[in-house]
Amino acid sequence: MNSIYPILEQFNEEHLLFPSYVAAFEDIDGLLGLHRETGITQNLLVLGESGTGKTTLCRAIAAKYPRTVLTERDIVPVLHVPIPCAATIAGVTEAMLAQLGDPSPAFGSISTKTARAIKLARALSVELLLFDEAQHIQDRGRLPTQYHVGDWLKTVMDAINVPTALIGLPRVGQLLQVNEQLRRRFSRRRYLQMGQGGETSIEAECLQLFVSLGATLPISLACGAFGWAEMGQRVYYACDGRVAYVKKLLSGAIRIALDRDLREIGPTVLEEAFTKEVWWEGVGQLNPFNSGFRFRKLNQVNEPFERGLLGTRPVARGRT
Ligand SMILES: Nc1ncnc2c1ncn2[C@@H]1O[C@H](COP(=O)(O)OP(=O)(O)OP(=O)(O)O)[C@@H](O)[C@H]1O
Ligand SMILES: [Mg+2]
Repeated sequence: MNSIYPILEQFNEEHLLFPSYVAAFEDIDGLLGLHRETGITQNLLVLGESGTGKTTLCRAIAAKYPRTVLTERDIVPVLHVPIPCAATIAGVTEAMLAQLGDPSPAFGSISTKTARAIKLARALSVELLLFDEAQHIQDRGRLPTQYHVGDWLKTVMDAINVPTALIGLPRVGQLLQVNEQLRRRFSRRRYLQMGQGGETSIEAECLQLFVSLGATLPISLACGAFGWAEMGQRVYYACDGRVAYVKKLLSGAIRIALDRDLREIGPTVLEEAFTKEVWWEGVGQLNPFNSGFRFRKLNQVNEPFERGLLGTRPVARGRT
């Protein structure tokens, strides 16, 4: 059983360059390249459901342009700021200061903290800002708060004057609907979702990801009586086209297969793994790997890919 752990660990770290991920990576990378070459500052809104790889993408961009430690100062080309749940202006400023290496992010009034963050970002030669988890601004619910944090973001972007990517769940689009100045700054958008290539269907792209990830495992995948094209559809419904769920499903399947000394990972193992790892109520017709499955998206109420209601209507709570 112990030998499962290195396999799972290695599998968890697998990093694949699937089309929508590569397109988003190139778009963000392009912002930095354009700014370096021409001084032009363009921004981008990157939207994707949970588990589509947004944070992984931010980390990959930051890894491409790592922090350099010089004797006189550090250089931080890419600043990745996850917006905290309590997305007050103070909270977001502190998150930014923490990423900039400020020793006391909580110290000072909001305006002095903001000024410090801008000064530090310039001193560290930040060339690209990545604000991840942007939906937390919207989740604050109260429109005045959304405006204030939006205005803060606009001020910081204008003062630092480097390209910015605002990254979050699709509902961030609604935040921009109520803030015209942010909307203008983030008029360019990229959706981190499969099936945008035109030539390849979403099911085929999902199958490709499933097979590529499966190829990194020590036990081979099998489609059984379904055939590969149908297997692609089933994987799509099981994972909603999100890389995180493809990984969850396969890591559950490899556990079962190794535990039972199986020679391959086929529909029966995947059916069990789906129930264990993705949706415990996903049995029988509600399990994409069951022969009775109805081939429909599992996004109804209480199903695993139900769209979050949070943020679709104003909720009175918290303070600014
Ligand atoms: N390009 C990739 N190749 C392989 N695995 C990936 C890739 N991108 C993401 N993953 C896997 O999917 C999981 C979820 O990714 P990530 O945290 O980046 O999603 P997210 O879109 O930020 O989700 P959330 O909105 O919930 O924060 C990660 O743990 C990682 O294992
Ligand atoms: Mg994330």
